[in-house]
This record gives sequence, C-alpha cells and structure tokens, in this order.
Amino acid sequence: MSNSKEYKRVTVKSLVEMKASGEKISMLTAYDYTMAKIVDGAGIDVILVGDSASNVMAGHETTLPITLDQMIYHASSVVRAIERSLVVVDLPFGTYQSDSKEALRSAIRIMKESGGHAVKLEGGKEIKDSIKKILNAGIPVMGHLGLTPQSIYKFGTYSVRAKEEEEAEKLLKDAKLLERLGCFAIVLEKIPAKLAEKVAEELRIPVIGIGAGNGADGQVLVLHDMLGMTHEFNPRFLRRYMNLFESMTNAIGQYVSDVKSSEFPNNEEQY
Ligand code: KIV
Repeated sequence: MSNSKEYKRVTVKSLVEMKASGEKISMLTAYDYTMAKIVDGAGIDVILVGDSASNVMAGHETTLPITLDQMIYHASSVVRAIERSLVVVDLPFGTYQSDSKEALRSAIRIMKESGGHAVKLEGGKEIKDSIKKILNAGIPVMGHLGLTPQSIYKFGTYSVRAKEEEEAEKLLKDAKLLERLGCFAIVLEKIPAKLAEKVAEELRIPVIGIGAGNGADGQVLVLHDMLGMTHEFNPRFLRRYMNLFESMTNAIGQYVSDVKSSEFPNNEEQY
C-alpha cells in the first residue's frame, strides 16, 4: 500500500515532508517542453533541468561546455510545460565557482529568466560561500556530492566515488554542512550504497541517489537513459524502462520506406 500524500504542487517543503513520512521521492531530468509535459503528467515529483543537457541534447563529451544562457533556454521550456512538479535547474560549470557574488548573479538569472523553482550546485565546503549567498537571497539550493561531473578532469574517470574511508568521511562532513547551510536536498551520485544510506539516516533533508543504492530517500535518472533513447551508456545503476532507440529507429525506417514506395500518404491522409 502506498503512503503517498496528494500534492497539487510539489514544493521544497513537500520533499522534506515526504522524507519525514517515509515516502520516496521520484526525480527525472527533462530539457524541453514536450518531454517535460509527459514527465510532469506522469506524476514525477521533481524535474531536474540537468547540465547533462550538454551531453544529451548537444552531444558534448562532458557537462562543462553548456552555458548559463543555454540552461535558461532549456529550463524556461520545461517550466512552461509543468503543472505539478518542482523544477530544479543546474548552475552550469564556471557560473558559481569563482566568487559568491557571481554565483548569486547566476542563480538570480536562472530564477528570473526561466521561472525555475530552485538551483543545484556541485560541491561541498569549497563552495559554501556561494551556497550561503544564494540561500540568503531566498533561492532554494539542492546540493550534489559524490561523482560531480563538472570536476571530471580532476577525477579523471566516471568511476564510483568515496570508496575509501577518507573520501567517505569528507562526503559525510560535506553533506552535514550542506544541511546546516540550509540546502533543501542533496543528490548523491555514484557512491557505495552503504554510505548513501548512512548519509540519508544522519540527515533530516532528503538525499536523492543516482547509482547510490536503495537506502537514499529518492532516486534520479537521466530521462533519455531510462527511456532507452541512448544506448551506448550502460552503467550498472541504470534501469531501462523502454527501448525507445529501437522503437524510434524502426518507426523512422518504416516512414522512410513508406515515402520511398509512395505508401505514404494514402487517400485518407490528403485533402
Ligand atoms: O545533470 C544531471 O543530469 C544531473 C543528474 C545526473 C543528477 O546532475
């Protein structure tokens, strides 16, 4: 039996309530109007306009190249589609790390120009001044620890983070700091399940995992991965709910063949 309460609109407060009542939080990415309308209508709690748009929508190898203007474009398209979900928007690489005033300016642009409801930043202690400044302006902040793709050149690989005790301890400390600063939730990416469970147990705010096991308070996946539109990316944590790559390839192939053979359009499909 579900212990879900009905939320007409999901807010940052609803998420903390969900955690307190033991209801798991569902989160997916979206980057455009049409997909966001489907995701919102299907009942997702949180839509993340992730900087993974850099990979998924633009074909870049990393999340580093996407700009603030591009994130605002994606986020405003998503916001126009939603009725219920909370929309969280990633601050892209280079828009919050140098100083806290720039971080605040970037967050304000996202909120003003896209209509998103919150921002997400990658990192812990190193970016605490930026987080504080954004929170002081009344903008809700989601943290992101573990594998933080904007630092990929520092890590060198996309492998599991915080397997060693020292890094695990730093992650737990950072998570507690983010909660103390006032973040409303934290994403934990690609870390051992036991560590994510411990962080979720020790924090009051929700912990949303991706590749972080079932002990987190919620789960997030990249929409195009879970729908099976992408097929080269196969991490262990990814569950594909469809094989859209195959269905779309077949549908488009059929269309090509129908056009070539003059099967399309038929008498009913013309004026
Ligand atoms: O950009 C993104 O899609 C993300 C998720 C992987 C959490 O940050």
